[in-house]
Amino acid sequence: SPRFLSDYSPSDFNISHVNLTVTLDDKNTQVVSELLVTKANESLCDLVLNGEHVKLISITLENQALSAQQYEINDTHLTLPSSLFSKTQGEFKVVIVTEVNPEENTALEGLFKSGEAFCTQCEAEGFRRITYYLDRPDVMATFTTKVIANKVNYPYLLANGNKIDSGDLAEGMHFVTWYDPFPKPCYLFALVAGNFDLLTDSFTTSSGREVNLEIFVDQGNLHKAEHAMTSLKKSMAWDEQVYGLEYDLDIYMIVAVDFFNMGAMENKGLNVFNSKYVLADSDCATDSDYFNIEAVIAHEYFHNWTGNRVTCRDWFQLSLKEGLTVFRDQQFSADMHSSAVTRIQNVRLLRAQQFAEDAGPMAHPIRPTKVLEMNNFYTLTVYEKGAEVIRMLHTLIGAENFRKGMDLYFKRYDGMAVTCDDFIDAMSSASAKDLSQFKLWYSQFGTPQINVSEVYDTLTKTYQLTLSQQSPVTKSQLDPKALHIPIKLELLLPDSEGKMASKSHMLELTEQEQTFTFNDVTTKPITALLADFSAPVKLTFEQDEQSLYTIINHAQNSFCRWDAGQQLLISYIKRLTIDNDFVLPQALINSIDTLLTSKNEHAFIAEQLQLPSFDEVAGLIDKVSPQRLVEAIKKLSIFIAKGAQENLLRTYQYCQEQGRLGNNVGTRSLKNICLQYLSLLTTSQSLAQKQYDLANNGLVQNENMTDSLAALTCAAKINAESLTNQLSHFENKWQDTTLVMDKWFAINASVETETIFEHLDQLMEHPLFTLKNPNRARSLIGAFAMNNPKYFHCPTGRGYEFLAAQIAKLNTINPQVASRLITPLIQFKSFEASHQILMKEQLVKLHNLPELSNDLKEKLDAALAD
Ligand code: ARG
Ligand code: ZN
Repeated sequence: SPRFLSDYSPSDFNISHVNLTVTLDDKNTQVVSELLVTKANESLCDLVLNGEHVKLISITLENQALSAQQYEINDTHLTLPSSLFSKTQGEFKVVIVTEVNPEENTALEGLFKSGEAFCTQCEAEGFRRITYYLDRPDVMATFTTKVIANKVNYPYLLANGNKIDSGDLAEGMHFVTWYDPFPKPCYLFALVAGNFDLLTDSFTTSSGREVNLEIFVDQGNLHKAEHAMTSLKKSMAWDEQVYGLEYDLDIYMIVAVDFFNMGAMENKGLNVFNSKYVLADSDCATDSDYFNIEAVIAHEYFHNWTGNRVTCRDWFQLSLKEGLTVFRDQQFSADMHSSAVTRIQNVRLLRAQQFAEDAGPMAHPIRPTKVLEMNNFYTLTVYEKGAEVIRMLHTLIGAENFRKGMDLYFKRYDGMAVTCDDFIDAMSSASAKDLSQFKLWYSQFGTPQINVSEVYDTLTKTYQLTLSQQSPVTKSQLDPKALHIPIKLELLLPDSEGKMASKSHMLELTEQEQTFTFNDVTTKPITALLADFSAPVKLTFEQDEQSLYTIINHAQNSFCRWDAGQQLLISYIKRLTIDNDFVLPQALINSIDTLLTSKNEHAFIAEQLQLPSFDEVAGLIDKVSPQRLVEAIKKLSIFIAKGAQENLLRTYQYCQEQGRLGNNVGTRSLKNICLQYLSLLTTSQSLAQKQYDLANNGLVQNENMTDSLAALTCAAKINAESLTNQLSHFENKWQDTTLVMDKWFAINASVETETIFEHLDQLMEHPLFTLKNPNRARSLIGAFAMNNPKYFHCPTGRGYEFLAAQIAKLNTINPQVASRLITPLIQFKSFEASHQILMKEQLVKLHNLPELSNDLKEKLDAALAD
């Protein structure tokens, strides 16, 4: 049954220290857990420990063995009745011996095997799959962990903190003991054992502490860890410079594993990573892989302060650490790369995916109030919208006050488990700003809709903007209040010489409807709203094409220039979905020609050329026909390709040439967006094939995964004749590198062909494919549902059926992965009725599964009640 935020109460017991001894074995791992427990209050209460999928061997209290009559045990809890403690004074010791089966653990929660290695994942509630414990983030203890395993198979035995002891044991076994001096909740516990290659380095912190840096990877992959190591050092330096935050242990370890449900995990001193976010070399990784690795390494590193030193009181507060840490990693990426392009990419993700979540059946505030399965709340809303909320705060109080607020937050709460309110209160104290209305962002869900109108008075030279806001009204949110929203904008006006000049402002929208007056405005301005995307809202502001072109050409704010272009493109796509005869304007081609010959940075031009995605536009049209939407986007693409062909080709060739001279990421992305358009034209279709061949001609300097993959993606979109050969060439070349084969599976799943379903069935039979590996499952099934809208939304319903069939299998293998992959099916509301019916049919089928996991149940209940 679900839990509620309003039900929080502090633990009746504290645990000061945990002494773990783990003897690893594939089927029978033994865990001895010694707990030092104290009562946290005066009342007499039972000690109720969480535990799932663990076998209890024995339990002692103050060195007295307990008999089965003395405690209660069921599938989820071990209860020591209060009568047992009536005589104990102060601290008492509980020793629990349990056994677990890592090999059978395909859910990858708790202790499991990733290939030959043992590893753990405890967030949110995985520690209870290792031993009985008070598995809640506000119970914080120091840990000693002794790991025992066979020495030959598991030369490295790792856990949190500093290594304090090690040695050999009988029968080929050995042990290592670790001590973590920082009290932590058990979700930050980690243990890893395996035979790895180890990359070492060191970092000297600003106060002179020497930290050993260690990255563990599968054997043979050492050279692929260099980029991760560089990223780690950059992150450590950045956090010192920008936030004055230093690392606090003598060692920082990262382990890359192939079987992992998510991106990575910030366990104290021992991060565990999906190998996808560690391993890279110039042959096998794309430019965006490099970017993402750096960002995830930074994210996990930044958690050491925002998450570990100050953690969450309860799981409803997840955004306290995740929203803040995503905001910090976004700032970091913006500093390391183009801030304009980084911001655009953040916004694309938010608009396409988070807005959809906020409009779907699983919509929730960034601080949810009701949870059945916590793993379902590691969402775009908690992470990405959560980061936008922190960014708004930063905008409202300014960078300097924000830093003061962070300092105060750590001063007040270091070593504690706190709430989102505590964070905002620190920000409010430090900035002397009233943030009480701002807190509503934590309790209301849905994307606010802002409508804008303007009036210019020639006589008084005043310009008035009227903004109104509305958050969605639903059964669970009957009366949403007005939010506190920062609106940054620019007024564009010709100056005395007739040149366009711009003036920036920030408005604070706090009412349902509010009018802002600008005085001494010489002529009617053109207004570019939501500079830097200052708030996660949908905006409706009727601006004619001419105004949008003016913004594209003259706004100071790069986000506004980009966004005006996107608004224009969205309006064309919308028109095309309803009107077959709509003639696209020549002005669009002129503007694209201008972009292509502009002096902007290449990566930015590439973003301007990139059309809004299927998902983003689907969220903007009521009950859209997915087929018409796919067609509309294609039509617009072809129109641009034809109209701007000459400049696209010239740019393509220029970038190709530049690429030969040096390695420039932005230039490559501009080249590949040009290729995307050009390959839609019969006259230049063969370019993609040529690019693939060039990137694979055996000359090392040409080998480039970004270019190979871009070429294959283009060929897949048009189902080019050359595609089959290239895909099998790629398969031969990379069959031993599973991370690269994931890209191959993803491209295969996105081919636009009538025979896609036969093709998918064959791919599921591929020797390298297995539903047990989350990366593999996502790269085939996820890529089909997300990147092949034409066939996922096939009018026969076959796409939905395929997805549901895979989810049914994953329900028993790995509920977390199943629950992630179901997203596109539950977001049926944006589509026309005939599709909604087909999608719901599959949801009903899944709902009837025997042994439906809580993960899926929570989502299906919500979707079917909608
Ligand atoms: N805390 C991790 C991170 O953001 C992610 C953990 C995800 N856990 C989960 N059960 N989905 O880096
Ligand atoms: Zn995180």
